[in-house]
Amino acid sequence: MSQPGGTFDIVILGAGSGGYAAALRAAELNLSVALIDKAELGGTCLHRGCIPTKALLHAAELADQTRESEQFGIKADLIGIDMAGVNAYKDGVVGRLYKGLQGLMKQPNITLVQGAGKLVGPDTVEVEGRKYTGRNVILATGSYSRSLPGLEIDGKRVLASEHALKLDRVPSSAIVLGGGVIGVEFASVWKSFGADVTILEALPRLVAAEDEEISKAVERAFRKRKINLKVGKPFEKVEHTENGVKAYLAGGETVEAEILLVAVGRGPTTKDLGYEQQGVTLDRGFVITNERLHTGVGNIYAVGDIVPGLQLAHRGFQQGIFVAEEIAGKNPAVIDENGIPRVTYSDPEVASVGLTETRAKEQYGADKISTYNYNLGGNGKSQILKTQGFVKLVRVNDGPVVGVHMVGARMGELVGEAQLIYNWEAFPEEVAQLVHAHPTQNEALGEAFLALAGKPLHAHS
Ligand code: NAI
Repeated sequence: MSQPGGTFDIVILGAGSGGYAAALRAAELNLSVALIDKAELGGTCLHRGCIPTKALLHAAELADQTRESEQFGIKADLIGIDMAGVNAYKDGVVGRLYKGLQGLMKQPNITLVQGAGKLVGPDTVEVEGRKYTGRNVILATGSYSRSLPGLEIDGKRVLASEHALKLDRVPSSAIVLGGGVIGVEFASVWKSFGADVTILEALPRLVAAEDEEISKAVERAFRKRKINLKVGKPFEKVEHTENGVKAYLAGGETVEAEILLVAVGRGPTTKDLGYEQQGVTLDRGFVITNERLHTGVGNIYAVGDIVPGLQLAHRGFQQGIFVAEEIAGKNPAVIDENGIPRVTYSDPEVASVGLTETRAKEQYGADKISTYNYNLGGNGKSQILKTQGFVKLVRVNDGPVVGVHMVGARMGELVGEAQLIYNWEAFPEEVAQLVHAHPTQNEALGEAFLALAGKPLHAHS
């Protein structure tokens, strides 16, 4: 893998979701690409993010199902969690996908370059003394786990998510600092595996970016699962104790546990990479672009977590595809950030697209917005699964649906239809004409639309 450098149509710095998607699309469009990364192809999502966490969450679901199997007339005892086995399963999933991705990259238009790159000119990335020149450059260097001032992540007692993913045991107790997406997912996993879990969140609610009713439902479900919640109380500091850690909250309250997971957000990886020297504008480390993801400097674009907005792999994929098509002169449509689906894979799962009720009211005026909540209590398949939750629709009166918010087991699988509805600006009356298979959870979405269109079927008010 030690090429002499060279000239390409596109030089991409970072081979995570955004970078590798750009490479694949560019190659399809017959552009030559140098794809540079110091670590493994696939980036955070594949190796330290989406995929391994979802494998843990699936194992966690199996643990809960085993524990609760009696409810379904099945006799089983949960003997224990074998973390070596769980990790082998998780690593196997990652390994197979990694192999597949490596296979996809083996094509004449893509040159994979292993090594740390730095932008040394508006069209040049240098990797260990070799220069890769691109008629276009895409910055795709991703993000890292942030901490708080004075809070040192040692990887042993105070962990970031990448450490938590590699834990070789189930902690007896865990403090999760931050009740956002990562915090809620790990809290869910560890609780299912049998740990005593406490979430500390400075804001008044968990998953605070979601609709308020969704946050309330998650909190209710977590309390029922006996996950301890301390919301609206900023964290102050942590001390090491003989067997673990002790966290201090504003007001003097303390919580002790074996480990503490820091999940207070992810920062952009843009430091010391030469971006500013080449004139790229950074704001708190994020790369500022126009809506076509151009940085305003030469032919330099940016995609993924370094661009302000949702830090999601599928946003990175779409931005990567967008920029490759832009470079190829295909004039792709600008991506609507609100149209990007969001899923938190905890138990219960949260899935949403579009505006929350609050944001819709701000944008359109409170009297122009209607909402409808369809309770999963009326949905046959959800009853079969014994899950609770609801589908909430936010519509502009006499206009399209501008927000879909869902909470309950497996709701993430429904977000595909929800994002089509949002992005195609469908009216409830239009969706209500379409048939949803019975009995599926997907039907809950159909029922919500029937009700909002004024013709409810299995809806209890
Ligand atoms: P986040 O921004 O979702 O949540 C961080 C939370 O930490 C916030 O609720 C914040 O109020 C809280 N916090 C910050 N300072 C605090 C303090 N001093 N005391 C107490 N609480 C404090 O970030 P998170 O969960 O770390 O995730 C990072 C990124 O990774 C997110 O942008 C997310 O979109 C992405 N991700 C996505 C997943 C998915 O789509 N399922 C899964 C995991 C991560």
